[in-house]
Amino acid sequence: MKTETSVRVELGERSYDIVIGDSVFATLPGPLHRWAGAKRPQDLRVLLAADASIRGSYGQAVEDALRDAGADVVCVSVPSGETSKSLQQAEALYDALVEMQADRRTFVVAVGGGVTGDLAGFVAATYARGIPFVQMPTTLLAMVDSSVGGKTGINHPRGKNLIGAFHQPAAVFIDTSTLDTLPDRDYRSGLAEVVKYGVILDAKFFEWLEQHIDELNARDPQTLAFVVRRSCQLKADVVQADERETLGLRAVLNYGHTFAHAFETLAGYGSLLHGEAVAIGMVCASRLAESLQRIDKSVTDRQVALLSALGLPVDVPHDLRQQQDAIIERMMLDKKTQNRELRFILPAALGKVETVTGIDPPSAVASLC
Ligand SMILES: NC(=O)c1ccc[n+]([C@@H]2O[C@H](COP(=O)([O-])OP(=O)(O)OC[C@H]3O[C@@H](n4cnc5c(N)ncnc54)[C@H](O)[C@@H]3O)[C@@H](O)[C@H]2O)c1
Ligand SMILES: [Zn+2]
Repeated sequence: MKTETSVRVELGERSYDIVIGDSVFATLPGPLHRWAGAKRPQDLRVLLAADASIRGSYGQAVEDALRDAGADVVCVSVPSGETSKSLQQAEALYDALVEMQADRRTFVVAVGGGVTGDLAGFVAATYARGIPFVQMPTTLLAMVDSSVGGKTGINHPRGKNLIGAFHQPAAVFIDTSTLDTLPDRDYRSGLAEVVKYGVILDAKFFEWLEQHIDELNARDPQTLAFVVRRSCQLKADVVQADERETLGLRAVLNYGHTFAHAFETLAGYGSLLHGEAVAIGMVCASRLAESLQRIDKSVTDRQVALLSALGLPVDVPHDLRQQQDAIIERMMLDKKTQNRELRFILPAALGKVETVTGIDPPSAVASLC
């Protein structure tokens, strides 16, 4: 059965729809032709950036749909994995755009997870000072988080996402049936960001997740459709209120991430998945809030229980515990840092977080490791 719903992200002239369904990929060419103002089918030109591991499946399906509709398509495979968020891979996409003589009506379409989306989005943001971009996320993490909100970027060897730009997509097309083939670790990694939304914004949603652990572990399609929709709505609400993270509101989405980015970088990009690092980072932030008497221990315990039941790690890996100075150094590179002072997002209760300053990083890290 075909089902389709959408979530609107209201950002004035940059507003867009997140279309969620189980066979939405085939519907892409229609709106693209309209937005490109293409008079003839071949006037629609698309650079399709597809994650290499799904290039032959979902990437091909999107390419076929575009070609069947007469569009001029160039497809580039992005090697799978975090190391592709690099200047080198960005250059490969710039080269393809130059080669096809792309202009400001050429669309960049990303098919894949957060890596492909962040990379292709960054290239779309910077080529010719910005060309239109469409996200077609195929991982849970990308569906509920990275494809929505306009943050694009690549990594510097010393810090994640240090080179980036805000560039809202023209639309996000989410085909939840692509989750069927997602490897177990990647699926669970996405669930960490889902749990995050419950902790930071919606205690009822957190409770709902606690009550649907079996369905989540079984990837029940209806459960997933609800989870993706609710997460996109919560993220859209935050992005609408603070698109460019200037008001301090969007920073709530970074709950657990100050720790997580440090862990991810130190473990070596790719060895600890983003969501795994976020799961551990949320528990660290919650324990920190507990040690500052800001929350009751039960708030941390419920997060630990839910994350563990969803197969996510909750403890700092042993080898990272030995590297406290390095963790602090990496944490200082966090983009929330102001005047060399770290700003932590800490829970005040389930469903509510606060930005907290004045915490001495060595003592924050020492209490956790
Ligand atoms: N821009 C943002 O706002 C934002 C938010 C959160 C995370 N991120 C970024 O997202 C990245 C992580 O994204 P991710 O977890 O999607 O990782 P990913 O893009 O590396 O994808 C994970 C793995 O799944 C494979 N894959 C993708 N779709 C598949 C499918 N349907 N079936 C089978 N295999 C599939 C990929 O080849 C890859 O090996 C990180 O770089 C993180 O920094 C960005
Ligand atoms: Zn994240």
